[in-house]
Amino acid sequence: MNPGAADPFIAVEGWDEATAQQWAEVLELRATNPSQIQLRADLIAAAWLKPGDTVVEVGCGTGITLVDLTVAVGPGGRTLGFEPQPLFAELARRRLGERGLERASVEIGTAEAIPLGDATVDAAVAQTVLVHVPGAAAALAEMCRVVRPGGRVASIDQDGDALVIDHPDKALTRRLVVFSSDQRFADGWTGRRLPRMFRTAGLGDVTVTMRCHLETEPGNFLHVMALRLAENALEAGVITEAEWRSWTAGLAELAESGSFFASSNYYVCSGLKT
Ligand SMILES: C[S@@+](CC[C@H](N)C(=O)[O-])C[C@H]1O[C@@H](n2cnc3c(N)ncnc32)[C@H](O)[C@@H]1O
Repeated sequence: MNPGAADPFIAVEGWDEATAQQWAEVLELRATNPSQIQLRADLIAAAWLKPGDTVVEVGCGTGITLVDLTVAVGPGGRTLGFEPQPLFAELARRRLGERGLERASVEIGTAEAIPLGDATVDAAVAQTVLVHVPGAAAALAEMCRVVRPGGRVASIDQDGDALVIDHPDKALTRRLVVFSSDQRFADGWTGRRLPRMFRTAGLGDVTVTMRCHLETEPGNFLHVMALRLAENALEAGVITEAEWRSWTAGLAELAESGSFFASSNYYVCSGLKT
């Protein structure tokens, strides 16, 4: 299998409604973790957003971050979300409407082709999008293109190898983490590569910070993701059905005994358009 071959966020335009709805729920679950709330604040700080700014968010999903961005730029600012998955875009519009933030717009679009002129916005941001985009450098170049000189580009991405899951079966857990990092992202090492990518894109003043998303309660985002990971590995033929059964049973045992433990690192990188 090739890198990114089993990335669930590839070809999102063609998802059926049930798939889109399921992933929308997973994104909601992730967004409630305290580290994610902090990450959204980190992104706003990294992009130097201030009232009155115009900001673009590519891959805005169901609009979770777009709400925070819209509040940050205030009534005098503008937020433009672009999202290729139609149900996500619709949910994002609904979310903004429910909060009275109609001044934000959400359109169908990808990071590789932002329908805006050169140097027309103050900042461009993405949250866990570049890690899923094959040829992320082209998407980053496009984000740089639309930002005015003196504005900032910022991205949050995880690093696939920084996924930590406690489980009695170390060897099988390691195989699952490698499968996840190598095949469920366009590039599972995007997190650690962001600063290099940003410098290569010609951005200056490149900064990077990291937050750990830690979960110890069953039923949380990383628990759901761990179960999906094992399922994807089975579908991809990376583990056998017996291994899938034993791994999910081992995880269930830990969860039922109050000992679920998983964490993942998220890197916030930003740079200055010169
Ligand atoms: C992991 S989700 C993150 C969604 C949202 N940013 C959030 O943090 O809740 C990845 C998002 O990237 C979008 N996406 C996938 N390919 C894309 C592309 N080429 N350009 C822009 N967005 C893309 C997906 O539809 C999805 O909304």
